[in-house]
Amino acid sequence: MNATPAAVIVLAAGEGTRMKSSTPKVLHRIGGTTLLGHAVRAARATRAEHVSVVVRHARDRVVEFCAAFDETLVIADQDDVKGTGRAVECGLDALPAGLSGTVLVTYGDVPLLSGDTLVALTEAHAASGSAVSVVTAHLDDPTGYGRVVRDAEGHVARIVEQKDASEEELALTEINSGIYAFDAAMLREALAQVGTDNAQGEKYLTDVVGIARAAGRGVSAHVVDDRWQTEGVNDRVQLAALGAELNRRVCERHQRAGVTIVDPATTWVDVDVSIGQDTTVLPGTQLLGATTIGAGVTVGPEVTLTDSEVGDGAEVTRAVANLAVIGAGATVGPYSYLRPGTRLGAGGKIGGFVETKNAEIGDGAKVPHLTYAGDVTIGEGANIGAGTIFANYDGVAKHHSRIGAHSFVGSHTVVVSPVQVADGAYVAAGSALTQDVEPGQIAVARARQRNVDGWVERARPGTRTADAAARAGAAVGADDTDDLPTPEGPST
Ligand code: UD1
Ligand code: CA
Repeated sequence: MNATPAAVIVLAAGEGTRMKSSTPKVLHRIGGTTLLGHAVRAARATRAEHVSVVVRHARDRVVEFCAAFDETLVIADQDDVKGTGRAVECGLDALPAGLSGTVLVTYGDVPLLSGDTLVALTEAHAASGSAVSVVTAHLDDPTGYGRVVRDAEGHVARIVEQKDASEEELALTEINSGIYAFDAAMLREALAQVGTDNAQGEKYLTDVVGIARAAGRGVSAHVVDDRWQTEGVNDRVQLAALGAELNRRVCERHQRAGVTIVDPATTWVDVDVSIGQDTTVLPGTQLLGATTIGAGVTVGPEVTLTDSEVGDGAEVTRAVANLAVIGAGATVGPYSYLRPGTRLGAGGKIGGFVETKNAEIGDGAKVPHLTYAGDVTIGEGANIGAGTIFANYDGVAKHHSRIGAHSFVGSHTVVVSPVQVADGAYVAAGSALTQDVEPGQIAVARARQRNVDGWVERARPGTRTADAAARAGAAVGADDTDDLPTPEGPST
């Protein structure tokens, strides 16, 4: 028995007006990808040969997403005829004519449905020999859903929509999730018979169930206990609820694999993130996109990493990193901002109030305090003093500087790029560096200090400072009033 579906049709043509959004509903995101992206992943997990996405509302944006997400998706345009039945008909039309076997139907706005559930549905469908298998669930509050009506023997007889249901039918609590497995040929024939004579004037996919039964074909229910898997997003309240549940599941998966997540409620982990064993994630942390975290790492509290890589044993505290690489055993934070192109070597340090961008920082190199390091290569073991600024932008273009291995840049230096500091060189604190420095040199790029005797007594007589100077035995200077510095700055 072949338990691989021939195709999966993902319905994504609906408008989603309750989202009140200029973004199409299926392109809203949870867990790092769109609702439609989640639906396509589940569909792909079945290994179906074809996956088609039915589009109409905001067609171009949805198609653009599909092309970028998975270029092998088949796009099916729904026409002006409304309803899930018409949507599936259009989906079938976009697939090879005469396609046979099992066709699954899913929704683009049901993001927690798993690939495993679709595989189980396909297997149960094949084993049952039925023409239709409907995924159903028992809900305490079935309001809004189509109800599953069973016959005297307990077989599924038909599905009735909320708006078309009688009092008696409304009391039924088994709902149609909208996810199905169909025999392709039967589906095509049955859809041709579906009309629009109902409360909404739409072509209902659910009518296929009654048509199959009338033709003497079997219809099975595939009951799913995990209600989250069949829940769709209709508004932003549900978007947040499903996003939180997805996150809870992702966190649990990592916890079961040996990651300590101290507070899953305030930790947000996108579905594609990988985390090594014995890593600890502290509260308020977001691990986003394609981020990968090694083993034995401590990350958090309050860290946001996007598409970044953290090596084994590193520590990252209260930091933001985007497209950055943090080496094994390195430390980052608190309060550091690692922008794209930051690569911190093994055992290196990016400390407090440091911003980096396009910065290659070698193994064991340290940028510990209050620095901007943009467009720079810092050699292994180098030390960048507190308050150093790499002035990489001259108002027109960006320039790159290099600090050699084991070199030492004194505090409060401004490196006016481009400058090359060789391996094994020093730069004196407070320098404004504009010229290259050779190996073994120290560069002193600041005015030499000048002390003027007697300045306080002459310029600030009678003040507490003058009294203190006198008590301390201040030297009396020559009485030249020319060229005396003032506290506001040197005179000209
Ligand atoms: C549908 C089912 C209902 C089921 C419920 C589960 C029908 C007639 N009813 O109702 O039994 O309980 O889903 O959520 O099938 N779509 C299209 N084209 C359309 C209309 C809808 O692609 O013309 C897509 C939507 O984008 C959405 C899905 O189909 O992803 C369901 O559409 P929706 O309007 O939400 O169906 P319901 O009326 O809720
Ligand atoms: Ca719906």
